[in-house]
Amino acid sequence: MSDILTHHADGVLTLTFNRVERKNSINVAMYDALATALEKAVDDAATRVVVIQGHETVFSAGNDIEDFLKNKPAGMDSPVFRFLRAIATFPKPLVAAVCGPAVGVGTTMLFHCDLVYAGDNAAFSMPFVNLGLCPEAASSLLVPRMFGYHRAAEALLLGEPFMAEAALEVGLVNRVLPPTEANAFAAQQARKLAAKPTSSLITTKQLMKGDQQKAVLERMGEEGAHFGRMLGEPAAREAMTAFMQKRKPDFSQC
Ligand code: COA
Repeated sequence: MSDILTHHADGVLTLTFNRVERKNSINVAMYDALATALEKAVDDAATRVVVIQGHETVFSAGNDIEDFLKNKPAGMDSPVFRFLRAIATFPKPLVAAVCGPAVGVGTTMLFHCDLVYAGDNAAFSMPFVNLGLCPEAASSLLVPRMFGYHRAAEALLLGEPFMAEAALEVGLVNRVLPPTEANAFAAQQARKLAAKPTSSLITTKQLMKGDQQKAVLERMGEEGAHFGRMLGEPAAREAMTAFMQKRKPDFSQC
């Protein structure tokens, strides 16, 4: 079975991470599938809303670290950047349901969703510094804007996880629900959106995003250049090797 499940009903395309045994970590093939699904949905009149969801125990552990080392993203056309561009520019409503861990891109993709519903077990984190890397998905721009600088510094410099209630407080999440109800609630909200006129939704989203989109794409390019460089440097190599060897990284030489 595919690691990204797609389901289409009532104008809603649902994309489900289906790799629970690897904590829904995202490999190149999954980025490719997500990017392709979003790119196709832009012009597909039958798709009025997209939902992204995981399992009630885990949303996503972010990049598949092993796969990432094997298939380092080479340029802005690589699947990971195609996915990030597709989600950041997606013109129709995007709804996310998040339960359990949402690490790295598992959290940063949510800044590009319009509605986010979380299980009370959701744990968000952006530990890029802990991996010898830097933020992606324009999170270096969007997190300080949403959280305020000092809370952003806690999330992005310390890389500390924060739970669903804290995410609700800063405005990353619309509502916190029991984990068994999050996906169903997101589906219900998506169906409500799908019954509304698509042209009004698209125009309203575009107006709300305003000038932000240009800045987001520029920042993604800037982050991508640093991220690509840092992937080959000693700190990232040490962090990722340590993860695979199940030990603490030693950054004393980095
Ligand atoms: N890439 C590759 N494999 C991953 C992974 C990732 N991002 N996240 C988890 N896995 C694998 C683990 O290595 C483990 O494999 P094993 O069964 O062969 O030992 C399996 O998935 C289960 O993960 P485990 O760590 O045992 O689960 P947990 O419930 O204790 O913790 C997380 C869940 C998500 C908190 C933890 O797995 C984690 O921190 N993952 C790394 C997150 C990360 O740094 N992502 C990159 C962001 S850029």
